[in-house]
Amino acid sequence: MKRHGHKVYVETNAGNGSGFTDSDYKKAGATMLSTPKQIFDAADMIMKVKEPIKPEYNLIRQGQVVFTYFHFASSKDLTLAMMKNKCIAVAYETVQKEDGSLPLLIPMSEVAGRMAPQEGAKYLEKTMGGRGVLLGGVPGTEPAEVIVLGGGIVGTNAAKIAAGFGAKVTIMDNNLYRLRYLDDVMAKNVTTMMSNPFNIRQAIKKADLVIGAVLIAGAKAPKLITKEMLKLMKPGSVVVDVSVDQGGCIETCKPTTHEDPTYVVNDVVHYCVANMPGAVPFTSTIALTNATLPYAVELANNGWHAACRHNEELKLGLNIIEGEIVYKGVADAFGYTYTDVNEVM
Ligand SMILES: NC(=O)c1ccc[n+]([C@@H]2O[C@H](COP(=O)([O-])OP(=O)(O)OC[C@H]3O[C@@H](n4cnc5c(N)ncnc54)[C@H](O)[C@@H]3O)[C@@H](O)[C@H]2O)c1
Repeated sequence: MKRHGHKVYVETNAGNGSGFTDSDYKKAGATMLSTPKQIFDAADMIMKVKEPIKPEYNLIRQGQVVFTYFHFASSKDLTLAMMKNKCIAVAYETVQKEDGSLPLLIPMSEVAGRMAPQEGAKYLEKTMGGRGVLLGGVPGTEPAEVIVLGGGIVGTNAAKIAAGFGAKVTIMDNNLYRLRYLDDVMAKNVTTMMSNPFNIRQAIKKADLVIGAVLIAGAKAPKLITKEMLKLMKPGSVVVDVSVDQGGCIETCKPTTHEDPTYVVNDVVHYCVANMPGAVPFTSTIALTNATLPYAVELANNGWHAACRHNEELKLGLNIIEGEIVYKGVADAFGYTYTDVNEVM
């Protein structure tokens, strides 16, 4: 940003939790300000990670660009607040490429996917409530059986890491094209299988670790493992339901936090943290900013009007413009009026 001639303000101690100190930011040319109010007053554009919190609602002013995750459909309060303050809300989660992919969600899925076997391995340890199985086994023993439900970004990354540990991995997806691709690129200890109730039942009987990674865009995750099916799993086995943020694909999963990540149902350890990347903020920060920075530079260099006119991907990130909802999914979520983005640009 600095190199592009912009003045950058950073809130004091903002990077502490992620491992970046105030002096790191100063060395890079930023000006440190000690309160959020000072930042919101000084800046034309605000970049965050999570959605604005209540004390920030009224600090944001008309015409100010706010570029962050909003997930408006899950909060009416936030939607109303961002309409009221008349900001330009550009949401990371709806920036979209021509092929339909979501470039600012992918890094978080990569992080969560790669974390899933790591967490699973931890909770398979006896002292953590698991069966006491080592993911990769050792010579003369069976490796753990890992089932990955969903072979998208999370599932692919999870399978790769579980396979790297030496586990016996099965990825299940209901998209045959995806399974063909995965069969081509995965290691020898990864098998692909069509996702259907019969195959899932058979697979979970043998599983030590099940990773939930399905997504149906814009919908709640399908319950691929019901409460009744859970009884088929071995005592001490572990489920890591990454898709818990969309309701979870395992019926017995409910969102947990890093402070209290697991609970047990039918002797199966459930890990269902809704914000997994938060546990590895150093990696997550760099992964996310690698993806967001080029868009942020475009917004700052050209202003949101010109940047969004020129870049369709960024234009799809526009959710609310000076009080008008310009993203249909958000308007539909609350029955509010939807305005075509081209009418207000
Ligand atoms: N908990 C967290 O911290 C965290 C972090 C990042 C992402 N997520 C969530 O993880 C989930 C997966 O994200 P993603 O980026 O991998 O999505 P994705 O779209 O890349 O992959 C989803 C996959 O699920 C498959 N699928 C759909 N229905 C299926 C079914 N019935 N059986 C088997 N597979 C099926 C799709 O074919 C696709 O391959 C999402 O809910 C996402 O929000 C959670």
